[in-house]
Amino acid sequence: MTDRKPMTLPRLAQMHATGEKIAMLTCYDAAFASLLDEAGVDILLIGDSLGNVLQGRGSTAPVSLEDMVYHTFCVSRGHKWAWIIADLPFDSYHVSKEEAWKSSAALVKAGAHMVKLEGGGWTAETVRFLSERGIPVCVHLGFTPQTVNALGGFKVQGRDEAGAARMKRESQEAVEAGAAMLLYEMVPAALAAEITAASPVPVIGIGAGVGCSGQVLVLHDMLNITPGRKPRFVKDFMAGKDSVLAAVKGYVDEVKAGTFPVNEVHGF
Ligand code: KIV
Repeated sequence: MTDRKPMTLPRLAQMHATGEKIAMLTCYDAAFASLLDEAGVDILLIGDSLGNVLQGRGSTAPVSLEDMVYHTFCVSRGHKWAWIIADLPFDSYHVSKEEAWKSSAALVKAGAHMVKLEGGGWTAETVRFLSERGIPVCVHLGFTPQTVNALGGFKVQGRDEAGAARMKRESQEAVEAGAAMLLYEMVPAALAAEITAASPVPVIGIGAGVGCSGQVLVLHDMLNITPGRKPRFVKDFMAGKDSVLAAVKGYVDEVKAGTFPVNEVHGF
């Protein structure tokens, strides 16, 4: 892959427009960043899932901005080509857009190309503030892990008419505010496919069906090293593979071919 060029926002937009699927995985350190890059992963997400995966906590809420800056720095030291997104942690963007700017700037300085925040509606003002000041933003809609308590647990979002209408409205508001990417978690496949088809920006899905512009999974889940029961949308890509590199390449191949996820198996 010597002629490979670093991933850019226009290239991701082009992939969405032409139906070329986008492969994304979470990543938290330099060693995996280098391996995932080599395997052809388009986007590395320094997810605040590191609270669960690396820190053994019960939720993403206790993850600090310092944690995110540290792991973003580690990933940026190992990567060459992939687009890098870093999560704004729970207590780093809710109080004011100025606070969101400071938090985002810290992540960009550590090596992020884009920041991700959770929720629709009230976040639009923040998305506009960051986008207008040159920080690309991804908006995470559907099931939002940082607000699991308010949502009443790990529940699929947008199932009924009112929920679907809300998803559509919040997606449009986010894009109008300048969001350059959307991410849907645990959303009915038909709804996610319908919104993606009309979306001017890429929509990455996790438990949102094969009709999204691309897919993301938590790295440790798809390598089957997360203890305990996995969500329905996870597939074990280590099964039948003799190396981590082969497992990640298998994931990239299946996402690109549109054979993962299978709506009836991994979707809602
Ligand atoms: O933090 C994370 O890993 C995420 C994924 C679930 C998309 O936001």
